Amino acid sequence: MARLSRKRTLGVLISGRGSNLKALLDACAEPDFPARIAVVLSNRAGAPGLEHAARVGVPTQVIDHRTYPDRDGFDAALDAALCGADVELVCLAGFMRLLTPGFCATWAGRMINIHPSLLPAFKGLNAQAQALAAGVRIAGCTVHYVRAETDGGPIVLQAAAPVLPADDEAALSARILALEHRLYPQAVRLIAEGRVKIDGGRCIIEGLPPPLGLA
Ligand code: GAR
Repeated sequence: MARLSRKRTLGVLISGRGSNLKALLDACAEPDFPARIAVVLSNRAGAPGLEHAARVGVPTQVIDHRTYPDRDGFDAALDAALCGADVELVCLAGFMRLLTPGFCATWAGRMINIHPSLLPAFKGLNAQAQALAAGVRIAGCTVHYVRAETDGGPIVLQAAAPVLPADDEAALSARILALEHRLYPQAVRLIAEGRVKIDGGRCIIEGLPPPLGLA
C-alpha cells in the first residue's frame, strides 16, 4: 500500500482538563501539520480531556495508576500502549504522575512536556502560584524534553507573559494557558520537522521562530 503520509506519530498523556491536548488536536487537524495523534492515554477515567479526543475519533485508553502495584508496573503499561500505537513522540499535557527513571530513559529524546513557568524557575506543582509568591514581573511557559529530574531537561521553546498587579492565580494561569495553547503545537511542529537537535542539556533549533508573548 502506498504511504499516505509522512506525519510523525504522537501519543498524548493527560490527567485532567486536556486543553493542551485540544490545542494539539486542533493543530493536527491542519492539513500541513507534520504530526498526528495516534493515541491519548489518561491515568484518570474521568479526565474531561478524553472527550476532546473521542469527539474527533482519536483512540483513547485509560491506564489507571491505582490498579498497578507500583510505578514500574504502571509505566510498563504506558510503554506498551505507546509502542502498540507506534508512537514516535510522547507529549505530556497536564499529565500529573511522576514517571520512573527507567521510563524516562526509554523515551529520552522522544518525550516532551509543557510546564506553566519559565523553567528552570518554579518547578513542580502550582507553578503560577509560585511565580506570584516570588513577585516576578514576567511569567510564562516552557516546552522541554523530559528527563528523570522533574521539570528538567533540554528546553525547546518558551513564551513569556506579564504578571499584572491585580493578578490572582486564576488570572495569571489563564494568561499563561493561552500561550501554552500556541507554544505546544509550535514546538511539536519544530520537532516533527526535524529541526530540533539535543546538544547535552540544550536544544539547538534550525530556524528558531521569534518568541511568543513578550518579544
Ligand atoms: C497546564 O497548565 C500545564 O502546563 C500544567 O497543567 C495544566 C494542564 O492543563 N502542567 C504541569 O503543571 C506539569 N508540571 P490542561 O489539562 O488543560 O492541558
